[in-house]
Amino acid sequence: MAKVIYPGTFDPITNGHIDIIKRAAELFDEVIVTVAKNPSKTCLFSIEERIQMLKESLKDFEKVRVDSFDGLVVDHAKQVGAVGIIRGLRAVSDFEYEFQMALMNRKLSSGITTIFLMPHEKYTYLNSTIIRNLAQFKSDVSDFVPQAVVRKLKEKFSH
Ligand code: COA
Repeated sequence: MAKVIYPGTFDPITNGHIDIIKRAAELFDEVIVTVAKNPSKTCLFSIEERIQMLKESLKDFEKVRVDSFDGLVVDHAKQVGAVGIIRGLRAVSDFEYEFQMALMNRKLSSGITTIFLMPHEKYTYLNSTIIRNLAQFKSDVSDFVPQAVVRKLKEKFSH
């Protein structure tokens, strides 16, 4: 049984992430979408809120499970018995950072392979920062994120 993890900050999850998760679920038996507890980023949503939004948004995906982790991503992959780490490549600008991370992760644990998937080109320009920014100024983000996220963003910026 081939299991992979899809790690990220998910602050919040977008339709671009979901596109990657769907593609990974077509290739592997189980996809664990796993939220980094301590990313080197200041997050809008707490870890619990991010997990909740992921669970709601992915509830109809049979092969997908939501988890979280602290520490090194390769240690988490080993702990859950994953063979690989899924990462999305949206544009050439993602490449350098992802290349460095993939090689360092391979150095740390040669048994864990990083697998890159490309989302649909309509998501090339999407990231969580843009979504937070649009929502802050009350712009409609329903074309870009699941309904559970639209609701949470409205709550967050209602004051
Ligand atoms: N669609 C839309 N947006 C996407 C996307 C997609 N398919 N794929 C990535 N993004 C966006 C994210 O929304 C995020 O946007 P933001 O920066 O505006 O918030 C950005 O691209 C980067 O996202 P993410 O995939 O969450 O990566 P990250 O760089 O925040 O975190 C970890 C990556 C958590 C996997 C990494 O920090 C990590 O492994 N941490 C653990 C410590 C560790 O092991 N370190 C050693 C690594 S060598």
